Amino acid sequence: MKNGTCWLDTDGERIQAHGGCIINHGGVYYWYGENKALSTRKGRVDFNGFSCYSSGDLNSWKNEGIVLKAVNECGHELNPGNVGERPKVLFNRKTGKFVMLFHLDAADYSYARVGVALADNPLGPFVYETSWRPLGRESRDMFAFVDDDGSAYVVSSADMNSTTLICKLNDSYTAVSGESKAAFTGQFREAHVILKEKGKYYHFSSGCTGWKPNSMLYAISSLPLGDWKLYDNPCSGKDYRKTFYGQTANAFSFKEQQYIMLDHWKPEDLGSSGYSFLPVYIDDDYVEIPWTEEFDP
Ligand code: DGJ
Repeated sequence: MKNGTCWLDTDGERIQAHGGCIINHGGVYYWYGENKALSTRKGRVDFNGFSCYSSGDLNSWKNEGIVLKAVNECGHELNPGNVGERPKVLFNRKTGKFVMLFHLDAADYSYARVGVALADNPLGPFVYETSWRPLGRESRDMFAFVDDDGSAYVVSSADMNSTTLICKLNDSYTAVSGESKAAFTGQFREAHVILKEKGKYYHFSSGCTGWKPNSMLYAISSLPLGDWKLYDNPCSGKDYRKTFYGQTANAFSFKEQQYIMLDHWKPEDLGSSGYSFLPVYIDDDYVEIPWTEEFDP
């Protein structure tokens, strides 16, 4: 798969899984993301729902349909006039549920909430439950992850994007628990991603420039709610200052190698935005993400 381009599914159609995430469940990979197949007008696409694709090898992706659909009902939070972005699906070992957390917003991004939907199996259908602001604070461009001990966290751009807010979730992963940490105050970071390597937590993010690319930065902490230290731009190669014209979406590991997923936004036709899966090389506090032309697992 050629990095930076919009990949095709097994039917030869463009993969609609932008701002997405990949989980491995029972040996199958599931890729969830924003379905942006509707037409783009003035830099926005009506909310259409979140798609799921499945794969055994991360190379060929089968379209499993829209697993959380928009609701054509005036006043419903999932109505097409609203925004649904960056779905992250967590499997909860205690409850056996698949929990989808996503950025729910109004078209002008003033609603700034986390939406929650639940399913009994990875292909859904996901049932919409509720939305909230973590600890009452704004949440945009969120990310969520499960730690090795089963604790889960949601990471948000809060306070008009100036602060990165990390909140521990409750046991069912459907609400915050009350424990939190504010990081990178005044730094205006978004498109959050966290991965864990050798017991340390690595955070990756972009600056806030809409659909336009900017520099990625990484940060490290010894705990999710610990003291995060910002380091540097991990990207290397042509256009490294612009994150190769991409923006962070998620991370996954495959054959003991960590990868970061990027979206290459095309604001004039968001449904044709491209993807990259790039290797992340970590040596303690040194992190490098080199541009690679192909993702060839
Ligand atoms: C950048 C965010 O990362 C995207 O998810 C989206 O919200 C755009 N901004 C909208 O301009």
